[in-house]
Amino acid sequence: MEEKEKIVILAIESSCDETSAAVVVNGREVLSNVISSQIKIHKLFGGVVPEIASRKHIENIDGVVEKALNEAGVGFKDLTAVAVTYGPGLVGALLVGVSYAKSLAFGLDLPLIPVHHIEGHIAANYIQYPNLEPPFICLVVSGGHTNLVKINSYNDFDILGHTRDDAAGEAYDKVARSLNLPYPGGPKIDLISKEGNPESVRFPRVMLEEGSYDFSFSGLKSAVLNHLNKCRMQGSEYKAADIAASFQQAVVEVLTEKSIRACCEYGIMKLAACGGVSANSALRASLKSACSEKGIEFFVPRPVLCTDNGAMIGSAAYYEYRAGCRGDMSLNAVPSLKLGERRY
Ligand code: KG4
Ligand code: ZN
Repeated sequence: MEEKEKIVILAIESSCDETSAAVVVNGREVLSNVISSQIKIHKLFGGVVPEIASRKHIENIDGVVEKALNEAGVGFKDLTAVAVTYGPGLVGALLVGVSYAKSLAFGLDLPLIPVHHIEGHIAANYIQYPNLEPPFICLVVSGGHTNLVKINSYNDFDILGHTRDDAAGEAYDKVARSLNLPYPGGPKIDLISKEGNPESVRFPRVMLEEGSYDFSFSGLKSAVLNHLNKCRMQGSEYKAADIAASFQQAVVEVLTEKSIRACCEYGIMKLAACGGVSANSALRASLKSACSEKGIEFFVPRPVLCTDNGAMIGSAAYYEYRAGCRGDMSLNAVPSLKLGERRY
């Protein structure tokens, strides 16, 4: 590739409780990926406090961007474009990144690339697997989203299914809270489940109508809460690890079954997973073994690329850039941006 074809993107992510900036070359090569997590502060409140998140992003963003450029060994003059997550997410949090990126792009006279947060999660797979190309099926499991998506090309997606109530990560966090585990609960459930018996309680596996790719986790969450209340009221002993493992088993089975079914039905023998919950060790193991049984190739980013980070936004931005997508100074945060939708 000639030097002039080198597309160097500075990407900014601030949709929830991580302030992150990364420098990514041609969508696949990560020169830096600086992530400043606010978990310690939000933990005190048992979940993300939007107002605090926005304020912390404002405090952090300058230092995070500077560090990303330094670690990458690039200056402003080396950049091709500035990219930013503009939705979905917390409006105040998104606005910090969007305003910062707009100012940078304006000041440096560079193109501005608006990126959909979930398209970023999907693109984390392109970083992990330099040879991965669409089409493939992607299971998106994050704190706010659960989707099965058919990735037709870098910029074209069909949503096969979505959650009708709680997202998978939300269910993990709520169940963790009921077990008195600190925020964010997903990683804690993952950890303690290793010591528990996944068969100890048979929680419901909600598959919905035959053939449906939609998900529903609120019934499962309520079943866990009811079970705990019953144990507590009757004064019967329970092991948190057993409850966690049994809950996790129910989630993992549903996610695995529907993902594999989608690959088989569409004849696409490539499955990727992404989003915070795809860092879950039981889910990774289950998808991997189910895929190998069916001869499906399985892809999942390393855990740091599963949870929110700037590099994934830089990767998605490259494909948006190549497709001619550009934002301007009227770009706004869109908290409920739909997958595949452009609002600029
Ligand atoms: O993708 P993400 O970082 O943020 C959103 O876009 O929402 O996902 C965060 C979610 C949280 O609900 C967190 O508990 C969950 O991902 N999570 C996990 C694990 N690591 C993060 N859930 C289960 N097991 C994990 N190891
Ligand atoms: Zn996310």
